[in-house]
Amino acid sequence: MVERDIQTVTVLGAGSMGHGIAELAAIAGYEVVVRDIEAEFVEDGLEQVEWSLGKLEEKGKLDESAEAVRARMTGETDLEAAVADADLVVEAIPEDLDLKRQTFAEVDDYAPDHAILASNTSGLSITKIGAATDRPEQVVGTHFFNPPVKMDLVEVVHGEQTSEATLEAAHDFVDDVGKRAIDVKRDVHGFIVNNVMLPFMEEAAWMLHDGETDVRQADAAMVYRRGYPMGPFELADYTGIDIAAHFREDTDLDAPPTIAEKVANENLGKKTGQGFYDWEVDGPDYEP
Ligand code: 3HC
Repeated sequence: MVERDIQTVTVLGAGSMGHGIAELAAIAGYEVVVRDIEAEFVEDGLEQVEWSLGKLEEKGKLDESAEAVRARMTGETDLEAAVADADLVVEAIPEDLDLKRQTFAEVDDYAPDHAILASNTSGLSITKIGAATDRPEQVVGTHFFNPPVKMDLVEVVHGEQTSEATLEAAHDFVDDVGKRAIDVKRDVHGFIVNNVMLPFMEEAAWMLHDGETDVRQADAAMVYRRGYPMGPFELADYTGIDIAAHFREDTDLDAPPTIAEKVANENLGKKTGQGFYDWEVDGPDYEP
């Protein structure tokens, strides 16, 4: 393997984004630590990685065995131990600015001085997250998309203090894990993709609320007429309806009532079995 500055990557959060990013890093040859607050979350995340690596191996998409990739990954619950040897920390914990700032402040205390601290936030300010540390120039956004293993794009988000060297390291990492980086030069809320994608879901949800469309009609229109890989309702269910609602909480606009109702009833989409679709019965099924 080519000698590189980053050898060990710690991913904070073993949920769908965290375990996907960790898997990509392990496939690219990095030593990877996956950290979550409960051993059970870490185990669940690593099980998902094993499933995914199995799929990739079956399809001949790995240069080595799934087992060899998996052997580069370890699980951890203790934050200090998890970041002690990290050259790069990628945070993928819940979308709560206070929680992220608190976590970054702790990571700043425990991680080596040279370590770069990246956040996978979907839209929170990298500048504010970086300001919780004594190394804001080494804090950057690396916003992957769900599912990280399959989605090509990563938004590399610049905080006001992020240094050129950090941006370069973030780009090298994104290249190394086989993704394409798009620079987001101002850490505007929602960056580029979510700013454009949220109205796509919300407009459809308003139309549903106003009785102007139904779920299958809207999804079929966008998939079969516009060529989108998923319609707005399938995408909301796939990503998590709570994620769409949460994004709106930090703005002056209200989320459409159809979204707020789903969240209030904990019908969050695929992960809870119910959302705009009933995933336990038939899931998205909207052939026109
Ligand atoms: N690892 C390995 N294999 C996987 C996998 C994974 N993580 N996920 C799916 N696969 C496998 C499937 O099991 C299937 O295997 P099989 O052929 O053996 O049955 C194969 O890949 C094909 O999968 P699918 O039939 O489900 O479909 P596609 O590959 O055609 O596409 C998709 C799947 C890439 C998810 C596509 O539907 C898509 O692009 N959807 C839109 C997703 C999107 O927009 N994501 C962004 C959400 S927003 C976000 O993340 C931002 C955040 O900030 C909110």
